[in-house]
Amino acid sequence: MTDFFSAIPKAELHLHIEGTLEPEMMVALGQRNRVAIPFASVEEVRAAYRFTDLQSFLDIYYAGAAVLREEEDFHDLAAAYFDRAAADGVVHAEIFFDPQTHTHRGIPFAVVVRGLLSAIEGAKARHGMTVGLIMSYLRHLDEEDAFATLDQAEPWLDRLVGVGLDSSELGNPPAKFARVFAASRERGLRLCAHAGEEGPADYVREALDVLRVDRIDHGNRCLDDPLLVARLAREAMTLTVCPLSNVALRNVASLDVHPIDRMLNAGLRATVHSDDPAYFDGYVAENYRAVAAARGLSREQVVTLARNSFLGAFLSDEALAGHL
Ligand code: HPA
Ligand code: ZN
Repeated sequence: MTDFFSAIPKAELHLHIEGTLEPEMMVALGQRNRVAIPFASVEEVRAAYRFTDLQSFLDIYYAGAAVLREEEDFHDLAAAYFDRAAADGVVHAEIFFDPQTHTHRGIPFAVVVRGLLSAIEGAKARHGMTVGLIMSYLRHLDEEDAFATLDQAEPWLDRLVGVGLDSSELGNPPAKFARVFAASRERGLRLCAHAGEEGPADYVREALDVLRVDRIDHGNRCLDDPLLVARLAREAMTLTVCPLSNVALRNVASLDVHPIDRMLNAGLRATVHSDDPAYFDGYVAENYRAVAAARGLSREQVVTLARNSFLGAFLSDEALAGHL
């Protein structure tokens, strides 16, 4: 569908490349690489996508990622995503990848990054899209493991724009990664962290005060804390909100009660993104379309969301000016 929501130029800032693994590709790569997955068919994979919370999703997401083994697999995964994103009006993307999900299975860091970088070259050539890579630390693992990942990234630092923090939020507060975030910043990387998706507003505050992030992923739970909302608004902190993900993982009861307009009305720099679109049934334009319909967003509010995506991106002033 080409409509206003897919036509409006936007930046995708919250997208896990492993979360773009469509069931068809999961099954095909499982066969190509002779990796057994716990599903016999594409239909069985789809039927498994009924989640009750973040962890129930993560279990399937990590199981699915096991089919990714060769440089070519990472290339094909990302190339398919960039084609879809271009059709959705994405002109700039900053995508997360989870190196530890792969290195823990014996896949070298370089294999993952080489595959992604070659797809990024293709996206530039085919769609004129600019892409930044964000290496995301898995918060269910310890900080030492994150440091080992930062060491592995050393030869590739100039090809990364930043680091992120994802996986199981509850019980794994931002402060657990204080030192590795400081070390990442010293290496010139920008910082973001998932916070306030399932975890409390205090995790959002900790991401700001202890990790000193440049951007908050999700952040919904800040709404429980009016002082924090006022601070986020004052500091023009970008919150990368993912409506279909929020509903799929039951962090928001339904799109009809999604707080996106409440966030905008509170002066928050909220933006809309897709998180893990192969699992949550919609790429970025569908996230815009669905939440706009459910919440009756005005055209002006949709324009604000798209504009916020560029304001929150890790772009040079010159590149930003070209998008506004
Ligand atoms: N939250 C935390 N970790 C993740 C997510 C998410 O939405 N998607 C992929 N890893
Ligand atoms: Zn996410």
